[in-house]
Amino acid sequence: MEALTATPQQDALRAEMGRASPVRNGPEEKERIGQFVFARDAKAALAGRLLMRKLIAEELCIPWNEVHLQRTPKGKPFLASNLVGINSNYNFNVSHQGDYAVLAAEPELQVGIDIMKTDLPGSSSIPNFFHIMKRQFTETEWDVIKSMSNEWMQLDMFYRHWALKESFLKAIGVGIGFNLQRIEFNVSPLQLEIGKVYKETKMLLDGEKEEEWTFEETRLDDNHHVAVALGKQEGFAQKDSDVHSMEPNQPQFTLLTFEDLVASGIPVAPEDSAYWDNFCSKQEGPVRQSSHSR
Ligand SMILES: CC(C)(COP(=O)(O)OP(=O)(O)OC[C@H]1O[C@@H](n2cnc3c(N)ncnc32)[C@H](O)[C@@H]1OP(=O)(O)O)[C@@H](O)C(=O)NCCC(=O)NCCS
Repeated sequence: MEALTATPQQDALRAEMGRASPVRNGPEEKERIGQFVFARDAKAALAGRLLMRKLIAEELCIPWNEVHLQRTPKGKPFLASNLVGINSNYNFNVSHQGDYAVLAAEPELQVGIDIMKTDLPGSSSIPNFFHIMKRQFTETEWDVIKSMSNEWMQLDMFYRHWALKESFLKAIGVGIGFNLQRIEFNVSPLQLEIGKVYKETKMLLDGEKEEEWTFEETRLDDNHHVAVALGKQEGFAQKDSDVHSMEPNQPQFTLLTFEDLVASGIPVAPEDSAYWDNFCSKQEGPVRQSSHSR
């Protein structure tokens, strides 16, 4: 599996982003990224698109400016099939939240990725936040979340579960509307060391253990959890080695700077200075009401 992270908050990236945004992505991507209210979100979405283009260009040897990305009706990006040829099952997915954009890709397996940053809720206490989120998790999952020894660790476990659920939803591409009570995670081990890859967590779907899905979890740093869901794609006989071949705890993510992301990039449209000016006028992010800090 290919797994990449990019750090959209770096100063170098900030300086480069507006210049690169219009020229290295296609017109619909340019328009969508231009609509973000906050610069932070535009940069995160841009990093996600650039990760996909870089991956496809380098792994499938499709020139950067000939990569045509489309979306399923539910929004999951995929490579336009007329370009893929024998690689038509090539599957990739990105997530951007907190300080990173992440990508996972697989030649044959279905893949979904989600990153979550553990952060205090903006305007309510942690118990109140959990109350609002009650229906997102099953009783068993809440028992595990609330068994952690303090509120911060409970929040951290909450976001670990969130990333796991979201990774599965993103692998199957369903988006919003899936009954989250149908899926339940039995996380293992309870503590994850930074930088290691864990594959012990199991998922139950409608109460039945799902042996065909593997979940790879990584704690990137103190407060970012990444979950990658890997499942069988229709028409493929999954070899046991596909999902169990990696040595346990093998570091998996490659950290890229913005310069790494665009190093092999080829402009696909002329530079647009009005677009760049619009980007520069955006506020970085919302001003938080709460002064919580960990
Ligand atoms: C897109 C979705 C699947 C996830 O969004 P998210 O977690 O906020 O955002 P992420 O950063 O992880 O992923 C966004 C990226 O996933 C990809 N994506 C979009 N729709 C997707 C879909 N249906 N399936 C898989 N990937 C999708 C896109 O590349 C998107 O990036 P973009 O917005 O810049 O185009 C969205 O439908 C959603 O919000 N689902 C919520 C489901 C829910 O209730 N979760 C609670 C879990 S406890």
